Amino acid sequence: MAHLLHIDSSARGEGSASRRLSAEYVAAWKSRNPHGTVTYRDLTTDTPGFVSTDWITGVFGPAETANASTEAAVAASEHLIREMEEADVIVLGVPMYNFGVPATFKAWIDRVVMAGRTFAFGENGPEGLLKGKKAVVLRASGSDFDNPDFAPMDFHAPYIRGVLGWIGITDVEIIAVNGYTPEQLDIAVRRAGATIGASVAAA
Ligand SMILES: Cc1cc2nc3c(=O)[nH]c(=O)nc-3n(C[C@H](O)[C@H](O)[C@H](O)COP(=O)(O)O)c2cc1C
Repeated sequence: MAHLLHIDSSARGEGSASRRLSAEYVAAWKSRNPHGTVTYRDLTTDTPGFVSTDWITGVFGPAETANASTEAAVAASEHLIREMEEADVIVLGVPMYNFGVPATFKAWIDRVVMAGRTFAFGENGPEGLLKGKKAVVLRASGSDFDNPDFAPMDFHAPYIRGVLGWIGITDVEIIAVNGYTPEQLDIAVRRAGATIGASVAAA
């Protein structure tokens, strides 16, 4: 049975374009996969802890320094990594904040990019371990980063592609909308509906 992991990271609830888009994607996916299952995580209300001394000690050792706090920090990562491992499709609603991703999303990335679990250094160099998955990023921004005036400041899409690729998720589709006003964003979200439909149909 197909399984989808749905993650949102906009600090806005009502009125969030990335939340509208990710919800639309998941609804379309559910229509095509009526027996499919979905796990939902909201990084704004359920924000992973930042990388901490406990986490670093728990992950990198030495083993004799392990204690209840270091084990809890690693267990929190394990939980998030298992959510990814169980998913065939990962749908990420990610607004642009200050030319990159929201800090809540970065906190999640810092918890799931873990040596020995989601990537490893093998004989042929670094290897991502989360293979065979598709990620779809629903992104909202104010400015249009297809515009060459803004494009050099787009650290959002290259970062997400790079870091997901590092852990083995190389099939990454980014569906982006932009607008400075709620009305502009609303039009852009409606227009993106066709792209979402085509993406779900092709998956
Ligand atoms: C803290 C913050 C920083 C932002 N930084 C940028 C930015 O660097 N570039 C940009 O084009 N839009 C920026 N925006 C605008 C948002 O990307 C835009 O409002 C988008 O619709 C937010 O996604 P959401 O509708 O899902 O909440 C920023 C908004 C906020 C709240």
